[in-house]
Amino acid sequence: MNQHELIEKASREVAQNKNTVESDPYRLQFHIMPPVGLLNDPNGFIQFEGVYHLFYQWNPFETSHGSKFWGHYTSTDLINWEMKPIALAPSEWFEKNGCYSGSAVEHEGKMVLFYTGNVKDENDNRETYQCMAISDDGITFEKKGPVIHLPEGYTAHFRDPKVWKKDDTWYMVLGAQSVDEQGKVVLYSSSDLKTWNFHGDITGSEMNGLGSFGYMWECPDMFELDGKDVMLVSPQGLEPEGDLYQNLFQAGYFVGKLSYDTPFYKHGTFTELDRGFDFYAPQTTVDEKGRRLLFAWMGITDENEKYQPTIKKGWIHAMTLPRVLSLKGEQVYQQPVEELQQMRKDEVSYDDVQIRTIDVTLKGIEGTSLELLLEEIQCENGSFEIRFRGDARFIFSEKEQKMSLYRKSFKDGSLESRHCQIDEINKLQIFLDTSSVEIFVNDGAEVFTARYYPEVENESITFSADTMVHFQLKKWNLEHSKLNKGK
Ligand code: FRU
Repeated sequence: MNQHELIEKASREVAQNKNTVESDPYRLQFHIMPPVGLLNDPNGFIQFEGVYHLFYQWNPFETSHGSKFWGHYTSTDLINWEMKPIALAPSEWFEKNGCYSGSAVEHEGKMVLFYTGNVKDENDNRETYQCMAISDDGITFEKKGPVIHLPEGYTAHFRDPKVWKKDDTWYMVLGAQSVDEQGKVVLYSSSDLKTWNFHGDITGSEMNGLGSFGYMWECPDMFELDGKDVMLVSPQGLEPEGDLYQNLFQAGYFVGKLSYDTPFYKHGTFTELDRGFDFYAPQTTVDEKGRRLLFAWMGITDENEKYQPTIKKGWIHAMTLPRVLSLKGEQVYQQPVEELQQMRKDEVSYDDVQIRTIDVTLKGIEGTSLELLLEEIQCENGSFEIRFRGDARFIFSEKEQKMSLYRKSFKDGSLESRHCQIDEINKLQIFLDTSSVEIFVNDGAEVFTARYYPEVENESITFSADTMVHFQLKKWNLEHSKLNKGK
């Protein structure tokens, strides 16, 4: 099918399923979702001529992975997102099995996209092409075809171009797998965005003192933060280590120095960006205010994906809230963008909450789409729990210096948990949506992100403690955004 036919077909799919999708009580109120089908990675995140553009990996026809399109939303305030026409459909020979993940830059007043053309033959043999597409208005794109072919020494798991400019040169990092099946990040440079020079691996498994560190690295993103070079990447194939690496795939960061001459990226240890269940393939951009903003896929490809209950209503997955990154020492902090405060309404405030028993409820502290802010938390050597809508539970144990998030498995209702060490908790900022929870701990030193599916009618929030816990509490209902309205 040509691009036009594919887009028509996808648009019909959206229209035909609209009522079913929108009737889902688990449809989120203030997160980006696909209008139908499956959403995964954020792509092409950029502020272009004042407008934020977020593209996403999208299979409009199924709630499973397949030949991906680039869906498209825009916003002027990072809260209200408008659906735009499909940006890329997998119509050409170099992308026929998917317009896979990539990024956007602005050059000479145009928006330029780089993405991976994924091709498979009848025996599932893969080919990969790094492709370019250009737009004058940021809405319709002209495909320019492949600008990079697979170099020697790598398998066809070679994808997800992230492009940036330093001085007068363009650079691109790509996720790769070497022929000996080690995950790598490779670097290219270009003076005109069309001709790209290959510089080889800049880091990866069996490099930089990492030892064996995964068979494939996806979605690298390299940027400067506070004078240091930070790289986000999503490695596949890490074995669980205590509380770490509990999801099937990880998403985390390194802090270091990219020496552009050698080129080589010297960095420290890998740290997971999120401690919850659903966070993958993050992508950043720098906006006109100079902020380093991040979106991630609030989901992950694993064996339980197919049990997500929203599948019954024809859709699956969402984006995280947008976060702003900062660096303190070698640690990346993530804060929800301040614009989100504009959604706040119906404030309920408590100056000094004291909890010392189980299942305490507080008047006005309940709901399904809301923000909770707990400040000046004091916990005396015991443990403290918040339970969301009778389902997900966040627990901090001062004795063990550990935080935990529990939820019921989508597959069989059994209890699942994720844990993270922390010395003390003084602040929690929590965003609950109809089927998601995002918990920012101590101003974003750690974050837990998860989907969860409580009983639809259950709006309770309960607090428990086995010693005395004090905190200040504020709660706001969050005004529903105009998400998914528009063309
Ligand atoms: C990460 C990823 C990318 C790829 C895309 C395909 O989730 O596997 O590596 O480009 O998804 O949808």
